[in-house]
Amino acid sequence: MINRACLDAVADAIHAGMNTQEIDDIVYDTTLSMGGIPADLHYEGYPKSVCTSVNEEVCHGIPDENRILQDGDIVNVDCSTILNGFFSDSSRMYMIGEVSEDKKKLVQVTKECVEIGIKATVPWTCIGDMGHAVHQHALDNGYTVVREIGGHGCGIEFHEDPFVSYVAKPGTGMLMVPGLVFTIEPMVNMGTDEIYEDADNGWTIYTADGKPSAQWEVQILVTETGNEILTW
Ligand code: MF3
Ligand code: CO
Repeated sequence: MINRACLDAVADAIHAGMNTQEIDDIVYDTTLSMGGIPADLHYEGYPKSVCTSVNEEVCHGIPDENRILQDGDIVNVDCSTILNGFFSDSSRMYMIGEVSEDKKKLVQVTKECVEIGIKATVPWTCIGDMGHAVHQHALDNGYTVVREIGGHGCGIEFHEDPFVSYVAKPGTGMLMVPGLVFTIEPMVNMGTDEIYEDADNGWTIYTADGKPSAQWEVQILVTETGNEILTW
């Protein structure tokens, strides 16, 4: 609920000319006003309450008052909350003003990848079946999926087993047993799947070719009969 409220509040406020620190302020204020704790803040030394990743930033973009959103940008806002000792984790894409057709398509197909992953979250099948279905949809559209970073179990800890790959082979990985909670969060790149980490801040990941990357993230519970989305 808090995670959704944060991402809804960002949706209401985000616009060209805004800086990404303002997004951080919205997430921090919304989370605290609802009694939660921003899970990102001080996580392994991370300095802010949310990740804001623009265009060729794949993930872990650090909010900054000098980073001004421009018309045509695509932005991932990745929000995580702790409430009563439990973690939530989800992210959405936001499009600023007039966005090019090729970026719009990347954002749309990446969302479809997550929807396909949700449909493939079937109890007593392998998590690799789900990851493969996600990957296939990205490949069908001429995109690549980041290999090194993926989803994760999420509940009592921020990042729990299993590591959830979206370049997985069918029939591999953990059995999706009812009660398992994990994230579906493919990072889909318009160009190469090669990435690198920011040498200065040690967090932000970029595409090696500078082409855009998109990501949506849901937290999902495997149930006896299918699944339940906990946050999006
Ligand atoms: N929210 C990210 C995820 O989806 C993790 C961010 S960790 C941080 O797993 F320290 F960069 F905030
Ligand atoms: Co996550």
